[in-house]
Amino acid sequence: MTSTHNIVGTRIIGLGRYIPPKVVTNSDLTCLMDTTEEWIEQRTGIRERHFVDRSLGPADLAFLAARDALEAADTDAGDLDLILLGTLSPDVDFPASACLLQRGLGVRGMPALDVRNQCSGFLYGLAIADKFVRSGAARRVLLVGSEVHSSGLDLTTRGRDVAVIFGDGAGAAVLGPEERPGHGILSTHLHAEGKYAKKLWVEPPASIASPRIDEDMVSGQGGRLFPKMQGRHVFRHALNRFPEVIREALAANGLGVADIDLFIPHQANLRISQIVAATLELPQGKMFSNIERYGNTTAGSIPIALHEALEARRLTPGALVCLAAFGSGFTWASALIRW
Ligand code: ACO
Repeated sequence: MTSTHNIVGTRIIGLGRYIPPKVVTNSDLTCLMDTTEEWIEQRTGIRERHFVDRSLGPADLAFLAARDALEAADTDAGDLDLILLGTLSPDVDFPASACLLQRGLGVRGMPALDVRNQCSGFLYGLAIADKFVRSGAARRVLLVGSEVHSSGLDLTTRGRDVAVIFGDGAGAAVLGPEERPGHGILSTHLHAEGKYAKKLWVEPPASIASPRIDEDMVSGQGGRLFPKMQGRHVFRHALNRFPEVIREALAANGLGVADIDLFIPHQANLRISQIVAATLELPQGKMFSNIERYGNTTAGSIPIALHEALEARRLTPGALVCLAAFGSGFTWASALIRW
């Protein structure tokens, strides 16, 4: 793990995903809360999402996605030098879900780290993986984005603004050295602005409260156990930060919007993605979207989309792929990959 190699950069060697089979349609949600199929689809683009139907955590979903990514990369789990797991819904408060994933994979010894950066989690993880590989500190990195939102949503009218947008799922990537100059991960760009932490957050269980969780948090009027979002505020910031961080990535590589072959945004809201593409004057046909089927799977959304794009033959050799995300924190990020 500490030896150096003749490395030019980092590439994605294998991809995988796991989506739990249970489908929850917008119509299903209308039975639980005061909402309509039209409201959800018009405001977000979402038609259905998947929820786990038994007691599974993100490490379980991550394991199933990782298994496929490892197979695609022809890599044994025991050969991994680093395991990274992006999630905002960790299995337990501690230890890290990455350690639980490592246990599931039946391996030991290599470092295992949770990346807690919400919708930007996969891109934060990608930046970490890239640095480890480029420095020669790792030859094989497993990076998974995995979420189980369904057990943490307020599926009543009180929580409808947040509950309708999230779904469960996991996507995984195995990364390793890229020896072709000008290929692989060209650059990653990470940002955060903690002053907006409370615009989209979930509080308990909270170390700043004593006890960390109490009856009022669970059943009190405010429903503090559940995520809270000032949707319009988040929406407005997303519309600025996405184009900004994409232009930053392009400028860093001497490229322009016209060079992008495929844009895979974090799947937060179809309207956000469409407005971002329009702002950049990027043809909508170059944008990948699957939010209509999965909702917002947060750290899982970009690797799930990458895997689907691969299967749809949209990740062609030499294609310039632009990834970008924005979410709670606030955090936002981008990456350019020459496939
Ligand atoms: N069904 C019906 N009506 C609803 C629902 C619902 N599910 N949810 C809210 N409403 C109502 C509101 O009460 C409000 O009613 P009012 O006008 O009488 O007060 C009305 O609909 C409009 O509500 P808004 O919140 O203003 O609706 P908006 O058009 O902003 O859409 C949405 C809401 C979809 C959440 C949008 O704000 C959004 O996508 N925000 C950004 C989300 C995002 O990108 N998050 C970051 C990633 S997530 C992460 O990082 C964890």
